[in-house]
Amino acid sequence: MSKAIVIDHPLVQHKLTLMRRKETSTANFRRLLREISTLLAYEVTRDLALETETIETPLATIQAPVLSSKKLCLVSILRAGNGLLDGMLDLIPSARVGHVGLYRDPATLQAVEYYCKLPSDIGERLAIVLDPMLATGHSAVAALDRIKTRGAKNIKFVCLVAAPEGVKTLQAGHPDVPIYAAAVDSHLNDHGYIVPGLGDAGDRLFGTK
Ligand code: URA
Repeated sequence: MSKAIVIDHPLVQHKLTLMRRKETSTANFRRLLREISTLLAYEVTRDLALETETIETPLATIQAPVLSSKKLCLVSILRAGNGLLDGMLDLIPSARVGHVGLYRDPATLQAVEYYCKLPSDIGERLAIVLDPMLATGHSAVAALDRIKTRGAKNIKFVCLVAAPEGVKTLQAGHPDVPIYAAAVDSHLNDHGYIVPGLGDAGDRLFGTK
């Protein structure tokens, strides 16, 4: 069973509350998502391996820590995943970026793929898969299936708000993939929306409601 890690940092929790408010504007929602994603990037990269290299400061020669593997790939699940990209890239600018396009069939709530573009060497990278809302978990499972088919072996999943149902489905489908979330909410409603959640993350991010 994979780990589900709730990031309870006060800044993350405060910003998430601002995002949940129904009166928060599109511009503020977008800015807050970007800010939170930087904080999430900090947590999800916490266990990256370090090695030492010899450097000279103005005063001395020392063995100093540097990342031993800079190979990362952020994978956005379209379209709301794009809202988590820029804040993460601020912190890890050399990361590659992949996109997986899935939509939810409104009748079955199953994920249907319409786009996939990933770096060819994704198998050598830590893939950090991004989707603000982990609802039923069907899109996440389908995206991870696809990414694994393309060779990814080392994967983490990052969302903002998860439903218990989505966490369970993702853990069952991909027990090797740890889940990072700012909150695990109460439940899904009959339309597959997370309650209390924050509504449709894509619509709130792009102002398409
Ligand atoms: N997708 C969203 O954007 N919001 C939800 O609550 C569930 C899925």
